[in-house]
Amino acid sequence: MASVPSLASNVQQRLADALTAALPEAGSADPLLRRSDRADFQANGILALAKKLKGNPRELAGQVVDAIGANDLLKEIEVSGPGFLNITVTDRAITETLAARAADARLGVPLAAEPGTTVIDYAQPNVAKEMHVGHLRSAVIGDAMVQILEFAGEQVVRRHHIGDWGTQFGMLIQYLIEHPHELDHKSDEAAAEVSGEEAMSNLNRLYKASRALFDSDEEFKARARDRVVALQAGEEQTLALWQRFVDESKIYFYSVFEKLDMEVRDPDIVGESGYNDMLDETCRLLEESGVAVRSEGALCVFFDDVKGPDGNPVPLIVRKSNGGYGYAATDLSAIRDRVQNLGASTLLYVVDARQSLHFKMVFETARRAGWLNDKVKAHQLAFGTVLGKDGKPFKTREGETVRLVDLLDEAIDRATAVVAEKAGKVGLSEQEIAENGRYVGIGAVKYADLSTSAVRDYKFDLDQMVSLNGDTSVYLQYAYARIQSIKRRAGERRPAAHPELGLAPAERALGLHLDQFGEVLGEVATSYEPHKLAAYLYQLASHLTTFYDQCHVLSDDNAPEVVENRLFLVDLTGRTLHQGMALLGIRTPERL
Ligand code: ARG
Repeated sequence: MASVPSLASNVQQRLADALTAALPEAGSADPLLRRSDRADFQANGILALAKKLKGNPRELAGQVVDAIGANDLLKEIEVSGPGFLNITVTDRAITETLAARAADARLGVPLAAEPGTTVIDYAQPNVAKEMHVGHLRSAVIGDAMVQILEFAGEQVVRRHHIGDWGTQFGMLIQYLIEHPHELDHKSDEAAAEVSGEEAMSNLNRLYKASRALFDSDEEFKARARDRVVALQAGEEQTLALWQRFVDESKIYFYSVFEKLDMEVRDPDIVGESGYNDMLDETCRLLEESGVAVRSEGALCVFFDDVKGPDGNPVPLIVRKSNGGYGYAATDLSAIRDRVQNLGASTLLYVVDARQSLHFKMVFETARRAGWLNDKVKAHQLAFGTVLGKDGKPFKTREGETVRLVDLLDEAIDRATAVVAEKAGKVGLSEQEIAENGRYVGIGAVKYADLSTSAVRDYKFDLDQMVSLNGDTSVYLQYAYARIQSIKRRAGERRPAAHPELGLAPAERALGLHLDQFGEVLGEVATSYEPHKLAAYLYQLASHLTTFYDQCHVLSDDNAPEVVENRLFLVDLTGRTLHQGMALLGIRTPERL
């Protein structure tokens, strides 16, 4: 079903339009409508307008009230305080607007008026290394942004900029040449079945052994350095061995992404190595245009406002004095590729806030070079550090980095226990308990990450994450399952909107909140703040809880239309929860 454009107006926007129309001399002044406790909405915009027109705000507010006259949206409008308007809308306007949304497969959420192409850089672990909680954040936040942007109608290109290039590969490859069977699998079948965990443990073993040799044996060190040169020169055998490390790592990455219930596609994995052929040219262009200059043998870009502790400028090094390329050259080449070949209008980077200075310098360099401009913008969706319960960076008791897989398994175990406890009442099979345990556990981890503003550090606290009370995904998943249970119990009685019915306060509150869904999504898609969607969904579930307390849905005391209308509200709430959670990458089981 196609989206109906007129649905773009929710009750609030229709009201804002009516207010603006009531005061033609105001031009397009914003009435600044906000949801309010006193009435449904309060308009504060008259104050600024009165100032501009040099009039009395209360008088002006009175004129609006007179001019707006009878209107099928308005139940009550009154002037209050220094010149605010308190406005209550009609129950009919609420139900009718929601009925139109319910008839639309997109729940009335408008598509972006001018969609562009966003290339999003997220979920970028490093080859031959364990993934850690920082990689989790990038994957979870990035995946949510992909879904949200695509739903808004944006063209989205995913890029997983994995760390698959660099000097450490010289050491790894040289070690493998000298210990040729270290990455072997017993047979092709064995290779096909190798689990993510095995792959990672193979790589870990190799990494440790080669590192030990590198640190203790000068001759090996020299051979490892030569191997880097061979790799960069594209020497065949060296490249083939390098590819084996990448392939083994991908087995591991995919196992983690699968556990995370997240789709990562092979063609979208374009790691640092993918830009190797562009590095020379990138440097040449930067040098020719004067954006980069030679300094002590290195090719550098300088910035007035980036200085070290000693007051000396800290440049972005595009090419080292030994001719080697680093992280910056790759990122600058990736920008050229994404803008010129992929046609990006927006570049979005979901990367740790500790890399913010790097991106600030890279973006500024690209702007000076003309690769970024008014038509193509770049933005780092920076996220904070994951802390342990003690408020310190998340580590094991032994002070080691926590393995992502262990963490996810523990979340699933805890969640499965929570689900199993209630399973008897719902009559879930063992298989359903296991499946729901995964959805609840992974949902808990994702939601905890997505429900706080990304830039803030957040505490990884499994006890809190799987709690049934409070701002958790489990709470939202139970709200959804309860809705499905009511719908099953309703039997023959079907949801149907009855705009002629008056609404109870809890029904109005729920209805007006439902009506905000499209606006919230539009905002999240432009501000890159998925936590605002999480907050919206949590409030939605809270409104639903109040509604259940105050309004019986299936009671025999209700007239049939009341039952239908309440089922309609419940059903639309369920669809909104389901859609919203899906955009966050979280499943909503039918029975929990
Ligand atoms: N692999 C990097 C890391 O683990 C993140 C890559 C971020 N993306 C980029 N284009 N630099 O920290």
